[in-house]
Amino acid sequence: MKTSIATTARYDTHLILTWKEDATTMRDFEGKKSEISVRYDGRTTLIYCGCGEKKECTLDAVREATAAGSRKAGELKRKAVSVFCIDPTPQPSISLPDCVKASVEGALLGTYQFNRYKSEKLQTTEHIEFITNHFTAKQLHETQSIIECVFFARDLVNENAEIITPQRFAKEAQSLAKQLMTIKCTILNEKEIETQKLGLLKAVGQGSVYPPRLIILEYKGNPKTKESVALVGKGITFDCGGYNLKPSGHIETMSNDMAGAAAVLATVKAVALLKLRINVIAVIAAAHNALDAASYFPGDIHVSYAGKSVEILNTDAEGRLILADAIAYCQDVYNPSELIDLATLTGSIISSFGDYYAGMFASDDGLADRLIAASAESGEKLWRMPLSDYFLDSMKGDRADLRNLSKLPRGHAGAVCGAAFLQHFIDGIPWAHLDIAGVAYNERECRGDIAKYGTGFGVRLLVAYLNTKIHS
Ligand code: BES
Ligand code: ZN
Ligand code: ZN
Repeated sequence: MKTSIATTARYDTHLILTWKEDATTMRDFEGKKSEISVRYDGRTTLIYCGCGEKKECTLDAVREATAAGSRKAGELKRKAVSVFCIDPTPQPSISLPDCVKASVEGALLGTYQFNRYKSEKLQTTEHIEFITNHFTAKQLHETQSIIECVFFARDLVNENAEIITPQRFAKEAQSLAKQLMTIKCTILNEKEIETQKLGLLKAVGQGSVYPPRLIILEYKGNPKTKESVALVGKGITFDCGGYNLKPSGHIETMSNDMAGAAAVLATVKAVALLKLRINVIAVIAAAHNALDAASYFPGDIHVSYAGKSVEILNTDAEGRLILADAIAYCQDVYNPSELIDLATLTGSIISSFGDYYAGMFASDDGLADRLIAASAESGEKLWRMPLSDYFLDSMKGDRADLRNLSKLPRGHAGAVCGAAFLQHFIDGIPWAHLDIAGVAYNERECRGDIAKYGTGFGVRLLVAYLNTKIHS
């Protein structure tokens, strides 16, 4: 995709972002949020994109409208598009450059397609220019780099489980480190996972012909400080549930159970491309939760890297197990200042928020507030959930130190108990857990900048978050 900034339009397809207040004299177009109207003026195609009321304007509305318009241009098979950016002033809460940035993000996000398995390829837009005086070529380049990383995460999520195995994840990480010299990559294979005593990751991965991997990426953008942010991702490349086998209707989308890991990998790529002055340690626990004679058994006890034993009451609650080892290993070996994990952890978070919010659990208010600020900036929605001793206790075991299923009645507080299990492995550092089970994958139609299938949730949020750390 070629992008540029211009002052006059070169192409004959125009995306015209329009406030409701400016659409009053238009026929059959009110300028409502994400309303699209296609008109023709001689050889020029005018795609009007409604941004809602200017006085209530939000970056989300602008991003979503531009994405809807950009998708419409794709449907019309337009190769080159000129985007007329919109001015939110005098709206005090939104600056003009931020508004342009939201348009750039939307226009680019709206072009995404996963075409690999379609015989008839849809045409994709090849050129987009933005008509504005308020965005530099550098800003455009940076924004485009981030969006390309979102696409990288979406591609990983959308690809077959048979292709995106733990080994393939490791290969992707290694090739990233090769491509971007500022990243160091270390991989633990199944033997090293065993000798290093990552007993939970070993147990979850042992039933598959695709053996588990622990993938570590180190990015040192600021050698002057010892401070670092750890990002930990759940990388279950397929979750059939193991012996607690998932039924039809629940199993079909489980190649997406690595969306947390995909977001973490893509974020590290973005951070390195943007050369952010910050230190990041990324740890990805990658395993295939398979059903086989060699699979781990319900009822068995396994010992974690941290030394705590865990009674496996349900082999489908596997995400918390591999994350517990990744979190403990990360703290022990890399000593990060804070840790954020991303995981498609529970169906329960989908009952709470559908595909709208990710659940955020945080042990530290400062970290929670900075993540909420990054969420408002990126438009990737977070809602804070509680942590409490009550739930910590519910994960304590009888035959072992812990259990992977809570003692509470069935159906009670599933997402909160999942987070509480992870909390048992946090060693006093500020920590946030993002349960992205609902938002990582969109089974419905495209909505604004949210693609069908893999959404790439978390990449823009984490990049925005890491940026707030640099400037604070
Ligand atoms: N990968 C699933 C969670 C999930 C469900 C992600 C739906 C995306 C869509 C996870 O490993 C799981 O199976 N969780 C169980 C935990 C339960 C057994 C305690 C769940 O949420 O039902
Ligand atoms: Zn599961
Ligand atoms: Zn899972």
